[in-house]
Amino acid sequence: MKLDKQLHVGNRLMDREHAILIEYINTLQGLVDGNSSRQLVGKVLEGLIQHTKTHFYVEEELMYSFRHPDYVNHIKAHEKFKQTMQQLSSQYKHGETNITNELMDFLKDWLINHIQKIDRQLAEFLKDKKLD
Ligand SMILES: [Fe+2]
Ligand SMILES: [Fe+2]
Repeated sequence: MKLDKQLHVGNRLMDREHAILIEYINTLQGLVDGNSSRQLVGKVLEGLIQHTKTHFYVEEELMYSFRHPDYVNHIKAHEKFKQTMQQLSSQYKHGETNITNELMDFLKDWLINHIQKIDRQLAEFLKDKKLD
């Protein structure tokens, strides 16, 4: 997974953070492919979740500060994904689930879809707000 043109939203801060999330996902995929230990996979998964939360928080602060008209839907999407990730992490910790390729595909698809649609709208809205 790469932060190519299709995933650029045109806001420097958001693009930079998306690149970090993608790096986490790629690292996780590498560990899954290499059958790494549960401990290591769990650590990277935790890192991904923490970073996702921080990133969502940053976007939400931008939405509040600049009174983005669609913030309710955007925050709902973040909340739903955070819940899913939290559930996944706790199941993984308790040995109730594995990080499968289907799951990795779900994470990637969610991120691509969210960035291309909802985040891009936010970036467009922020364009004339002199952020970067
Ligand atoms: Fe984002
Ligand atoms: Fe977002």
